[in-house]
Amino acid sequence: MIDAISFTDNTFTYLDQRYLPLREEYISTRDHLQAIEAIKTLAVRGAPLIGASAGYTVVLGIKEYKGDKAGFPEYFKNLIAEVNASRPTAVNLFFATKKMVAVYEANYESDSLETLFSKMTDEAHKIYRDEVENCDRIARHGVDLIRRDFAEVLKTRKLNVLTHCNTGTLACCGIGTALGVIRLAWKEGLIERVITSESRPLLQGLRLTAWELEHDGIPFASISDSSSAILMQRGMIDFAVTGADRITANGDTANKIGTYAHAISARHHGIPFYIAAPISTIDISMSEGSQIPIEERNADELRQIFGNQVATPTTPVVNYAFDVTPGTLIRGIITEKEAVTGDYLNGLKQLFQG
Ligand code: MRU
Repeated sequence: MIDAISFTDNTFTYLDQRYLPLREEYISTRDHLQAIEAIKTLAVRGAPLIGASAGYTVVLGIKEYKGDKAGFPEYFKNLIAEVNASRPTAVNLFFATKKMVAVYEANYESDSLETLFSKMTDEAHKIYRDEVENCDRIARHGVDLIRRDFAEVLKTRKLNVLTHCNTGTLACCGIGTALGVIRLAWKEGLIERVITSESRPLLQGLRLTAWELEHDGIPFASISDSSSAILMQRGMIDFAVTGADRITANGDTANKIGTYAHAISARHHGIPFYIAAPISTIDISMSEGSQIPIEERNADELRQIFGNQVATPTTPVVNYAFDVTPGTLIRGIITEKEAVTGDYLNGLKQLFQG
């Protein structure tokens, strides 16, 4: 399996996803500002991977600290603010920095800085490991739900599945969230073909998901984002599953721009639309999707295609990186604890109890 990120010998190493699949370049750094830049530029990306990378970025930052113990709280506060400012939508980032802050708060008074830093490094590794393990559990719950929903169809044929953006190893460390469900479903003989939509403007579906599927030998076809409706109309898609960057208490889900349009098309054609995501992606403090901060990215991401100018440099652009799919369009939210269906308000709340 590809190592999208790793952390050894106080060094953060990441596979620069901007150049995949044409160039496989690993970059190692001990500089937390470079790690923040990697998150901002999408060299590392995908909600769970952003979370794990944020944990390691905090570790790089604390290892750079040269002052005494009394000066550390102010430094640490600024460091957390810097990391938090890197990308706004994926709540996994804030989940990870909150975990690092919790370790700091619980141990700062009693520990030497050396012991504190060691505990924080352990915490960052734990965030990474948890995300890897969550993927396997999500896959199991997802496949079980799909088996139930398609029990009749599966008696006679396999299924065609649509996915959007990249939710695989590159986005999660482990086998992936939505792509983890697809991988396990394929392994268990449920899948005919995967349809991966390109995910304009940065093409995570076309470049990254296709690369992962090709690597695994899973049959797939890539489509432009706007093709999903005609494929549904022609019976070429049985269900859709995507990941999430933030899910609110009522099941509204922010994910890569284009997800909402796929979900609307799916509803129109009576096709179940699932979300697969770890509990770290659920922001129970927000009651509904309109509260989610939606990242707006640089206009040149649209006016240029990988450095090639395709529109005038002055073309006005609206470039939202994410959209919000209402929970009412989602058949099930598949987490590592269970797949929640129906009443999201109660079902998602219960995931946080016990
Ligand atoms: O902008 P990106 O590439 O970080 O967006 C990624 C997505 O939207 C993914 O679908 C989401 O983070 C889930 S990753 C398991």
